[in-house]
Amino acid sequence: MSIDTQALLASDRKNVFHASTHLKQYADGDLAGRIITGGNGIRIRDSEGVELIDAFAGLYCVNIGYGRQEMAEAIYEQAKQLAYYHTYVGHTNEALVELSERIIQLCPPGMSKVYYGMSGSDANETQMKLVWYYNNVRGLTDKKKIISRDRGYHGSTIASGSLTGLPLFHNYFDLPLDRVKHTLAPHYYRREDSNMTELEFSQHCANELEKMILEEGPDTVAAMIAEPVLGTGGIIPPPKGYWNAIRKVLDQYDVLLIADEVVCGFGRLGENFGSILYDMKPDLITVAKGLTSAYQPLSGVIVGDKVWQVLEQGTDQWGAIGHGYTYSGHPIGAAAALCNLNIIERENLTANAKTTGDYMQQRMAQTFADHPLVGESRGVGMLHALEFAANKQQRKGFDANLKVGPQISAACMAEGMIARAMPHGDILGFAPPLIATPDDVDGMVERAHGAVNKVMNQLIRSGDWKG
Ligand SMILES: Cc1ncc(COP(=O)(O)O)c(C=O)c1O
Repeated sequence: MSIDTQALLASDRKNVFHASTHLKQYADGDLAGRIITGGNGIRIRDSEGVELIDAFAGLYCVNIGYGRQEMAEAIYEQAKQLAYYHTYVGHTNEALVELSERIIQLCPPGMSKVYYGMSGSDANETQMKLVWYYNNVRGLTDKKKIISRDRGYHGSTIASGSLTGLPLFHNYFDLPLDRVKHTLAPHYYRREDSNMTELEFSQHCANELEKMILEEGPDTVAAMIAEPVLGTGGIIPPPKGYWNAIRKVLDQYDVLLIADEVVCGFGRLGENFGSILYDMKPDLITVAKGLTSAYQPLSGVIVGDKVWQVLEQGTDQWGAIGHGYTYSGHPIGAAAALCNLNIIERENLTANAKTTGDYMQQRMAQTFADHPLVGESRGVGMLHALEFAANKQQRKGFDANLKVGPQISAACMAEGMIARAMPHGDILGFAPPLIATPDDVDGMVERAHGAVNKVMNQLIRSGDWKG
């Protein structure tokens, strides 16, 4: 079937409100559009027949790769058998029962129940409500503030957008909400004191957190939310000793830890969960993306025993919990998640994320660690970032107006590969599907190298950078 790209794009510009898009430029035709028509493995293709390596797995979610017939069939079979029934007042479905058992088995110890939504954002909204309810049951009615981190990403709704620590998601939307505070990001590369070791910097982050809890008043702080590896804010693995130091502070002040595993969960770091890899001991976990590899919208709030006991007690006092969506526990989402988890297990994709991920880290570091334009090459498992620097020695970034990150991302696209210009700072992100092979990684590194060199030469030629 042939597609009239221009006619479709004209209609799209007229009728579709796109996420994270310059609305006027797109409506006026100043911003190019692209119609994605299909995908296979690590590649997608568009209506003009262009094929691209997707080194960001959509939005780090298509972990099993594109075009899986088995997934389509699982979704179809579930739709034929039972396309929908709600999960209110104890109603359930077979796929959901099986899925929940599987998720709890994969989790770090101490997890009790899974509540389902459709997106990472709505799951984090649920987290916030549960934490408030938890402290109301305990009679701690002032203990409601949530500490997130600068550069953290937790969604873009009112509550989850408040948790997000990126100005782009707050400005002009009257966010964040008052009850949300942001502490220092564990961004060792951007530390102020260049003499600090990683361990010292981790302790410094924990001290900053403690200072915030004491300033706000421990009786007012309910929880901290954090990604095991900070994602959209720059793909920043925690410095050595970070989670251990943070956990100690949280325990001291009776502050819950919500691990936002929307990106890290289900294998991306080469372990089932980032919480396991870093021994975070979370009280609550948020999952989405990799749960279904994005073949269906599905998210989960995984509640630990400690919180669950209190929630049960609350319903004894006040009756049924006043929280639920029409689509909570949707059977088609559950069937897709089960099939996805089967594929991950059968094909050892978590183990592949470790071995091929290690290879990716090594290849990237070899190629870029000493590159004049690259300040830092960092990552873990199937997550990697290149942070660009105008002055490598001083760890100084480029003038934001030069848009070095977006230029390099565009140059990657010209080389046939999608690598994401992260929204904050000049950082290029890689999060390939977990099926990627060492050969695929070689292709990605080669393309990235070509793109970085191309932009570097342009910057030198234009006089914007002296090298
Ligand atoms: C760590 C994390 N949490 C939450 C979200 C929000 O998920 P969604 O876009 O499905 O609402 C994202 C999205 O990128 C994320 O990376």
